[in-house]
Amino acid sequence: MERRTIGAGALDVGAIGLGCMPMSWAYTGSRQRGEESLRTVHSALDAGVSLLDTADMYGPFTNELLVGRVLRERRADAFVSTKCGLLVGEQHIVANGRPGYVKRACDASLRRLQTDVIDLYQLHRADPEVPVEETWGAMAELVTAGKVRALGLCAVGARAGRRAGAALHDGTIRQLERVQQVFPVSAVEAELSVWSPEALDALLPWCRSRGVGFLAAMPLGNGYLTGTLTPGQGFEPDDVRARHPRFTSEMMAANQPVVAGLRRVAERHGPEVTPAQVALAWVLTRGRQVVPVPGAKRERWAVENARAASLELTAADLTEIAELPAAQGSWD
Ligand SMILES: NC(=O)c1ccc[n+]([C@@H]2O[C@H](COP(=O)([O-])OP(=O)(O)OC[C@H]3O[C@@H](n4cnc5c(N)ncnc54)[C@H](OP(=O)(O)O)[C@@H]3O)[C@@H](O)[C@H]2O)c1
Repeated sequence: MERRTIGAGALDVGAIGLGCMPMSWAYTGSRQRGEESLRTVHSALDAGVSLLDTADMYGPFTNELLVGRVLRERRADAFVSTKCGLLVGEQHIVANGRPGYVKRACDASLRRLQTDVIDLYQLHRADPEVPVEETWGAMAELVTAGKVRALGLCAVGARAGRRAGAALHDGTIRQLERVQQVFPVSAVEAELSVWSPEALDALLPWCRSRGVGFLAAMPLGNGYLTGTLTPGQGFEPDDVRARHPRFTSEMMAANQPVVAGLRRVAERHGPEVTPAQVALAWVLTRGRQVVPVPGAKRERWAVENARAASLELTAADLTEIAELPAAQGSWD
């Protein structure tokens, strides 16, 4: 697989990563496929994927434990990215950016991941009660201590309260400007896909101009862009899509032209090529420092997604994708 270099520390990874979240969190049946999930991670590594993206809150904790079972055997094949700063309670998820907590969270992640160093340690969300510089300073000390190789910041999500008139990533860019004063940011993780291209406006240019890597989260539109979901199919209450405005029957039907466009492009490249692969190949064309991290718990999907690294979209394909209608339905 093509390799990509991201960030201040010149991190070298396979062009397509693996989002491990659906193996333990946020999707229907996440907790019921442990053995298949292990095979999925192994098969992704065999296919040239190296970046494994997890977080202490996925599960919570069980996703890191799962990734740790693979790392114990194949540490040299993997680049592990995990996150701290969000605590899962009975009813709520709360941020904790206190320096002492961050250091304890890192030690706990290292134990669960069965490794002595985390390649990329990301701040999942800044804590509104703690100046982000303090949290980032504690994370920088983890680099000095050799427990972490590089630091990343996750974008504030679309559901976060925004100032009136502010663009989606204004708040994230303000945080990035502040933490850069303390210690270099190696990578930013934010949603980027054919139906959610907002990061292209300001966030990705910010990263590009500073040599910061970009991990594209949700590059398959939570599965929608793969064309394998049917409008009206419904989702279990614990599935994030049960509350997502783009996954009502009405919006899933309204956005079908986006999937149809990806399918048309896929068909031009041959019967084996899928809309999911076109969606990922499009993300790869957004910049040399961009690495999509498609989530998958199914082995078949992870291998299919890894193969998207060798799909070369033509200028005509890119024009056709650019002309697809904007997706309908949003958190605003
Ligand atoms: N930093 C953050 O705040 C943040 C937020 C969200 C996500 N993330 C990261 O981004 C990663 C990706 O996001 P995501 O997993 O939510 O969304 P996604 O990658 O857009 O979509 C994942 C969904 O697509 C399905 N899928 C994957 N490949 C497929 C294929 N080839 N054909 C058909 N279906 C396919 C998966 O099914 P199965 O699971 O059934 O295999 C899963 O339901 C996460 O795993 C996580 O690591 C980070």
